[in-house]
Amino acid sequence: MQTKPRILVTGAAGHTGAVVVDDLLKAGFPVRAFVRQHDTRSAALEQAGAEIFVGDLFDFRDVRAAMNDVQRAYHCPPFAMNLLHGAMVFALAAEDAKLEVVALLSQWLPHASDPSVVTREHWLANNIYRWMPSVDVIHINPGWFAFVYMLGLPSIVHLGMMVGPFGNAQNAPPSNEDIGHVAAAVLVDPADHLGKSYRPTGPKLMTPDEMASDMGKALGRKVKYQDASVKMFTKAALAQGFPLFEIAHVAHYSAASKSGAFSSGAPTDHVEQVTGKPAEPFIDTARRYFANPKLIYHSLETGTKLGAFAFLARMLMTRAPDLGAYERSLGYPLLKNPKMASENPDWVAAAQNQQLHLLSGVENMR
Ligand SMILES: NC(=O)c1ccc[n+]([C@@H]2O[C@H](COP(=O)([O-])OP(=O)(O)OC[C@H]3O[C@@H](n4cnc5c(N)ncnc54)[C@H](OP(=O)(O)O)[C@@H]3O)[C@@H](O)[C@H]2O)c1
Repeated sequence: MQTKPRILVTGAAGHTGAVVVDDLLKAGFPVRAFVRQHDTRSAALEQAGAEIFVGDLFDFRDVRAAMNDVQRAYHCPPFAMNLLHGAMVFALAAEDAKLEVVALLSQWLPHASDPSVVTREHWLANNIYRWMPSVDVIHINPGWFAFVYMLGLPSIVHLGMMVGPFGNAQNAPPSNEDIGHVAAAVLVDPADHLGKSYRPTGPKLMTPDEMASDMGKALGRKVKYQDASVKMFTKAALAQGFPLFEIAHVAHYSAASKSGAFSSGAPTDHVEQVTGKPAEPFIDTARRYFANPKLIYHSLETGTKLGAFAFLARMLMTRAPDLGAYERSLGYPLLKNPKMASENPDWVAAAQNQQLHLLSGVENMR
């Protein structure tokens, strides 16, 4: 007889969702894993003991059906257009299904006037989730994940170059696994976490130079950080096959990062506070990810030195589109006078003083 509540995990094939599924299964919970399609990743989840539900997170019928006989959930809104639409579909279904609690993955930056529509939509979702009459919410607000710095894996491994639009900005990037462990832990025993917000980080603030140096140690070769302009980064990300929507947003987060937003109030001790184990050092994350590049991105491979040079040539020949014009063409709401989080004194004060409730709330965040 089932005694533990059933838990739904969305984005279950993704960076954090797969970890949440694994942790919850190990803790003896029945888990329903919401995936977009059957593939090797869903087969691995099924093999581990999860029930697979294939559906579309933007389709209320799918999301509601996935919640039948479910009591708790981890919701990972996909990083894509219409994030708020998906988050609201999930909230309506959760309320209708009378879930006890949802752990909601959000971001480090949310506030009302951010240049990034995804960040503003996270902020709207964070606030609206609090209105649910019968469902409790626990917020999880990480900054740039550690894997982001390793997306140029072939250049790192074969050319000793970590390239990115990071400037000299510090971040204490958390591993996918630590974020997932925090989400799973609050769902295993939610009582003390209801209504709270956690900002999981790595153990210390690091510059991109220091991260590159750690990657070098993990690989046993010299790796240097090479700063890229947004234009060069756009060319590289397009040549690598990333969608323009994600690239346009990384450009916003690059500006946010360079303005010091990811180091505001970082590092935190939330990984240890919630899971009882300290956050993983960046170098250990790098070692694990280099051994299994699928943890960085599901289709990423280390490739060869020749492939890394061929990629450089392809990147140079790729035309960089005007990201501002691209965003204007999408028709989603763009603000006339946006402000980055670091330009919003309320956000900065809340971040530095670790007033976590404010960071996910509507109060003073305008
Ligand atoms: N990356 C960062 O540095 C960072 C920092 C702070 C916050 N965040 C937030 O983290 C979230 C992403 O988390 P993550 O990296 O764990 O996710 P992820 O690895 O991108 O996984 C998302 C999963 O959702 C699935 N999916 C996408 N659209 C779907 C749909 N319409 N229906 C069903 N499934 C769908 C994807 O399936 P496929 O794989 O099959 O496409 C993917 O497996 C975003 O909300 C983002 O804003 C990210």
